[in-house]
Amino acid sequence: TAAEKGGYEHFMMKEIHEQPKAIADTFRAYLSDETDGKKLDYRVDLAKLGLTDELIQSLSGVTIIGCGSAYHVGATAQYVIEDLAKLSVRVEFASEYRYRHPVIDPNNLVVVISQSGETADTLAAMREAKEQGLKTLAIVNVIGSVIAREADFVLYTYAGPEISVATTKAYSTQLIGVYLLAICLGKARGLIDEREEQRLLAEIAALPEKVQRIIDDKERLQWFAAKFSNAKDVFFIGRGIDYAICMEGSLKMKEISYIHSEAYAAGELKHGTISLIEDGTLVIGVLTQSELYEKTLSNLVEVKSRGAYLMGLTTSGNYDIEDTVNFAFFLPKTDEHFADSLAVVPLQLLGYYLAVSKGLDVDKPRNLAKSVTVE
Ligand code: G6P
Repeated sequence: TAAEKGGYEHFMMKEIHEQPKAIADTFRAYLSDETDGKKLDYRVDLAKLGLTDELIQSLSGVTIIGCGSAYHVGATAQYVIEDLAKLSVRVEFASEYRYRHPVIDPNNLVVVISQSGETADTLAAMREAKEQGLKTLAIVNVIGSVIAREADFVLYTYAGPEISVATTKAYSTQLIGVYLLAICLGKARGLIDEREEQRLLAEIAALPEKVQRIIDDKERLQWFAAKFSNAKDVFFIGRGIDYAICMEGSLKMKEISYIHSEAYAAGELKHGTISLIEDGTLVIGVLTQSELYEKTLSNLVEVKSRGAYLMGLTTSGNYDIEDTVNFAFFLPKTDEHFADSLAVVPLQLLGYYLAVSKGLDVDKPRNLAKSVTVE
């Protein structure tokens, strides 16, 4: 009903707007009590995750398992955890992991990501890992769900109920869970000292306000979407974390607007996708990682010379991008490990506005279910 949608036309838009609060709630839940409240004195409470220093120090690596958007959170987590905790990370689709007879390293931590905590493939993969004697940590939104009950450790996300089939706020809270986990791992492995922990946590604490600023700028995306509702193919390109962001942006777009889109690691373009670029094809570049900025920018120049119409999503300050792209959207600055939390928001809005401009059922896209409890 209209009341349930809190004045918004669709649950998806309501849930996009709930992200600042969902992020803040999830973040605060894992701060230690003594420091909670004191603004600049943050500390992650390891015990609240159920993890101990001894367990973390015994780890040789992390395996992350999920489906759909939860898998995309894993793709970002791979970069963040490897960088902050220097542990090797492998990300897998649950439906692949469960059947591939993985070579089991008993010192791997298996991290299972699921909004519903009921996805059949994810549950089966987690059970497989447990049977092999591996420790499992579940990042789950629904309290008391099967995956939460069966995992050894649970990191609940506090997104609240998510109704729209296309996930927005649950995805955003899963990212927070991953950042906190990465910081815990880095701390216990002696790579992050107290000062660095403070700095990183202060950056996470500042995300809700920055997400809000992006949402406040939504009309620019609505205007841009109106021009592309007839698009047939859209390409998202980025490197590193930006590639992971592209995968989620592309999924958001295709699942609700039914526009075919593909996410491509920008350096791979020349090995295939570039043959699909025609006059007017929309290519969206994501450039939040300064080390990779020039590289992706030159990939944008390559497709532009083949006729592509370019949107660039980058950090404020990178104003020279306007010399190359047709439409630029600037994100507030943040520590680059956490850039997904900001960059995903305009892409959610873009998918939303495309679907709305095509008159589609945004909250219930055809053929999709919110949670898939059969194989
Ligand atoms: C379904 C939904 C996706 C979701 C995936 C995993 O396919 O349509 O949006 O990402 O399941 O769901 P989970 O509840 O495990 O996060």
